[in-house]
Formats: sequence, C-alpha cells, structure tokens
Amino acid sequence: MNLLDIIKNRRSIRKFEDKKIPEEVIDKLAEALIWAPSAGNLQSRKFYFVFNQEIKKELAKAALFQDFIAQAPLVIVGCTDNKIEKRYGERGKNLYSICDVAASIQNMLLLTHEQGLGTCWIGAFKEKEISKILNLPENLIPIALVSVGFPGEEPLAPPRVSKSEAIEIVE
Ligand SMILES: Cc1cc2nc3c(=O)[nH]c(=O)nc-3n(C[C@H](O)[C@H](O)[C@H](O)COP(=O)(O)O)c2cc1C
Repeated sequence: MNLLDIIKNRRSIRKFEDKKIPEEVIDKLAEALIWAPSAGNLQSRKFYFVFNQEIKKELAKAALFQDFIAQAPLVIVGCTDNKIEKRYGERGKNLYSICDVAASIQNMLLLTHEQGLGTCWIGAFKEKEISKILNLPENLIPIALVSVGFPGEEPLAPPRVSKSEAIEIVE
C-alpha cells in the first residue's frame, strides 16, 4: 500500500478480534507516536498504553459507555502536558499541545492500518473521570482515547466533502 492508500483506506473500527497485538507492533506504535512533529520540539504529550481489562472497562464507562473500547486489546490515552505553558503561554497550552497529541495520534492510526490493525479515535469522554482512573498528575490532560486491535469488521468509508469544498486556492 502506498501512503495515500493507507490514508484513504483507514477506517474507524469499533469491533475487535480477541487476538493479542504482537510486542514488536506495539513498539512501532510507540515510535509512530514519538516521531510526530511538535511545537518547538517540546513534545509536550504523554501516552498511556492500557492493557488491563478492568481499567479498560472503566475507561469505556467514562467514555459515555462506548463499550467497544473495552473489547480492544489495547487502549491508548493521549494527554497534553501543560508544561508547554512555560515556553508558549496560553497558546501553547490551549492549542500547540493539543496539536502535538493529535499529530502523534494520526501518525499512529496510519501505522496501525499499515500493520493490519484497526483503531478508533475517541473524543467523547468525561475528562475528569479518565484522569481519576489513571491517577494522572495535574499537568496531564487526557484529550483522546484510541482503541487498538485486530479489526472484527470492515466498515464502508463515510463520505468526504469534495476537494473544491475543502480547499480554497489562493494564487
Ligand atoms: C476528534 C475525534 C473524536 C472522535 N470521537 C469519537 C467517539 O467518541 N466515538 C466514536 O465511535 N468515534 C469517534 N471518532 C471517529 C469518527 O466518528 C470517524 O473518524 C469519522 O466518522 C470518519 O470515519 P473514518 O474514521 O472511518 O474515516 C472521533 C474522531 C475524531 C477525529
């Protein structure tokens, strides 16, 4: 698959096979996360890799009972790190660190698809509950969960807007 095929064929997967993710693939996911760009290269982000079944169930509950989350063998919790504020102030905290985490996650979603895994980016959850479940330090704010596992479904691609709708050419 070339990169554009990987980008276009990746789908959000909400059903997973009961199959372990090989260690070497997990290591590649971690590489994809840390090699994403970040503001000032401060890498003000942190990722929790959750394999524990009971904790995954709690995360699913905190994510408004999206039960498929607990079905995935791995749930990654992406957090911004407010330490960025020291260098970039409010803009660092409210924008850059969120972009940093999002860039990492998109890298990882594409890598997982290339590796034959499926993922779903989950944004709907109660932030404070996730912080409590993982006992996060105050500087870390969870902004995304990603369920990861071997896909148990092949969803059709939801439509996209046309290129002309999405893009304005400035010449
Ligand atoms: C910021 C963000 C939040 C999302 N939150 C959820 C969510 O809470 N639950 C869910 O099932 N999917 C969630 N999604 C997945 C989207 O529904 C999905 O990406 C979109 O419908 C397009 O489908 P595709 O990923 O298969 O191309 C989220 C995606 C993003 C980028």
